[in-house]
Amino acid sequence: MNKKLVVTFCAMLFVFIAFKNDLYTELSQPYAENPGIGIRADSKSLDKLSIIPPMLSKTGKSFITFNKMGFDINSTNLSWVAEEFINFCQEYPGEYVLDVGAGYGFLSRKALSKGVFVISNDIEMQHLLYSRKKVKNPDEILSLFLNTTPFPYLDIPKNFLRAIILHRVLHFLPGKEVDLGLENAMTWLKKGGKVYIMVMSSEHIGYREKVLPEFERRKKKGDPWPGMYLDVEEHLPDQAYSLPKQLHIMDQEILRNALERHGFEIERMGYVSMQGFGTETARDGKEAIGAIAVKKH
Ligand SMILES: C[S@@+](CC[C@H](N)C(=O)[O-])C[C@H]1O[C@@H](n2cnc3c(N)ncnc32)[C@H](O)[C@@H]1O
Repeated sequence: MNKKLVVTFCAMLFVFIAFKNDLYTELSQPYAENPGIGIRADSKSLDKLSIIPPMLSKTGKSFITFNKMGFDINSTNLSWVAEEFINFCQEYPGEYVLDVGAGYGFLSRKALSKGVFVISNDIEMQHLLYSRKKVKNPDEILSLFLNTTPFPYLDIPKNFLRAIILHRVLHFLPGKEVDLGLENAMTWLKKGGKVYIMVMSSEHIGYREKVLPEFERRKKKGDPWPGMYLDVEEHLPDQAYSLPKQLHIMDQEILRNALERHGFEIERMGYVSMQGFGTETARDGKEAIGAIAVKKH
């Protein structure tokens, strides 16, 4: 190939990578006026980043995530956890809430419509950029912050947040990071603030008979996280194309203990149905579990 052409191509590639990395880094940088919460969504630098539209899952019932981290809600059929979170947001316009693992931002945008400031957090910037594009109201774009720092390592000021939602994200984290996350959540929340959690259950009909004996054995031995390492290929083969190799499943007792260990008081706890979403027949409503817990002091 022509030498000149190769040199020009390499130079262009270098400029592209350097420029791209600059913007990507900027997303994780503290926003000047509010340390650690992310970059405000009206930032012009974000306009330079291209957006790849999300793809539908095989069932057509959800979007697949860009980074093989599960399936994203894009319906109006909210879980009770999400519904209560949105109602809580409505009570506190002008306050800050955090949506961890926001995906394509459906819940972040619902929260925005209630008048709160939303820190929309996800390790995949493409998800957040798509969400940003969907915000049409100019007031709402000023209330949205994009944050790509992996949970639990965000740098949020103390006593800053009214609520945190972790909706279908904790099953991607090892127990140690869940513990650190709950400890940090306790610091970030204001007194009276709440954490909203939905996570995959150990009693999912697709695998419970196979995994529960070992889960219960570990639990009896005092393991605080007996459901780490669910083998996705083996137990959820139909969904493996958009999931990591392993997932961390929990039951209500394990989640309750973890929340209480970190000083939260449980307000509501129960199963969350994912009936109507997946491909397994005869789903029975025990596919996920949910919790709402409050920082009382
Ligand atoms: C299954 S999607 C859930 C999206 C949305 N919350 C929902 O319920 O539909 C999980 C999302 O969590 C994000 N995620 C995974 N690990 C994360 C972490 N440590 N910190 C922040 N986001 C994370 C993934 O990129 C993915 O978009």
